[in-house]
Amino acid sequence: MTVVSQRAIAAERAFEAIKHFAFHSRYGERRGDADIADFTFGNPQEMPLAGLVAAIREGAVPHDKNWFAYKTSEEAPQAFLADVLSRELDLRFEPPDIALTAGAFAAISVAFRLLLDAGDEVVFSEPGWFCYEPMLLVANAVPRKVPLAKPRFDLDLDAIDAAIGPRTRLVIVNTPHNPTGRIYGRDALAALADRLERASRRIGRRIFLLSDEPYRRLRFDGRGFLSPAAVYPWTLIAYSYGKVLLAPGQRLGYLAISPLMPAEDRQALRDAMFATQMAIGWCFPNAVMQNALPQIDELSIDTQALTRRRDALSEALAKAGHAALPPEGTFYLWVKWASGDPEQQWNAFADRGIFVMPGSVMNAPDYFRISLTASDEMVARALPVFAGAT
Ligand SMILES: Cc1ncc(COP(=O)(O)O)c(C=O)c1O
Repeated sequence: MTVVSQRAIAAERAFEAIKHFAFHSRYGERRGDADIADFTFGNPQEMPLAGLVAAIREGAVPHDKNWFAYKTSEEAPQAFLADVLSRELDLRFEPPDIALTAGAFAAISVAFRLLLDAGDEVVFSEPGWFCYEPMLLVANAVPRKVPLAKPRFDLDLDAIDAAIGPRTRLVIVNTPHNPTGRIYGRDALAALADRLERASRRIGRRIFLLSDEPYRRLRFDGRGFLSPAAVYPWTLIAYSYGKVLLAPGQRLGYLAISPLMPAEDRQALRDAMFATQMAIGWCFPNAVMQNALPQIDELSIDTQALTRRRDALSEALAKAGHAALPPEGTFYLWVKWASGDPEQQWNAFADRGIFVMPGSVMNAPDYFRISLTASDEMVARALPVFAGAT
């Protein structure tokens, strides 16, 4: 008999492939070595933004005795974010709509605990972020995965509709999308909203939407962004500063309620927010990050550098027959392996110290993901290998 709960065991199983890749594969053996070119996870491969260091330093100097006291969703950052989000998303957020969290991870977890009872079903698309499933399982919810529609990995509305049953409570949409880089446009989101409205009536229960948008500010070629919160009133937004700052170890994000939500539901969620955040382990951002928010909000990694790397890598990969889907957002490149055995091709890269994330860990074995957060030096080293020249 194991001492571990059934929920923890289920979550561990759901996370097994990615855990194995990260720690026990050929990549796991070499991760951290200075001589590899690491294109796997969205981790920084260069020094942090100077502006972030200055903001954290300043936020750490106490001005009063409460500087490091317990912090919940503090009034000043809530008001600041309501204002920023209202302008950014063209919606009228009010401060109580915003729950400050320790990144998107915590925002998503809070959303699950706010909305889901044991056995409730949650629909999301794959390939997708590999943490939704274990997070749902520890929340005692039931994941229902549906495929995205190839070749452009659009939302498959028929598949989503077909996965909705009497226990469905939530649908998750991630835009810009990890790993494909797709940004879903107004037509797709409006059609999804229409399906969710009709499905809610069909099952006699309100289906909520979780819009997971941590890459929202990382977009290519001047593309716009429409939050699902502007299209479907029963939407909660999860956001993190970890991506735009490329500093995921400094946890800061929020869960925001769509201002379009009918007043009674909006108020009920506002009222339950604090207790839920407290009860799942005080998942508020720490004092320093809350203090530094106004300075932090102005910062971003260099999206021009991401664009340069995207273009150079796509061109090189194409020479060897690997087809990259041009990403519209995020800092990833989603690539279809050239014909042949994906594992053999992954190993051929690894033999030369070049590591990419195999799509097999996301149930998409014909693809791989490249993180554009690799340094220019890593990119230069990898280009001839990706082009099949060595
Ligand atoms: C789609 C998606 N959602 C949420 C997260 C979690 O972000 P954070 O670690 O900044 O909370 C990630 C991180 O990789 C992600 O890719």
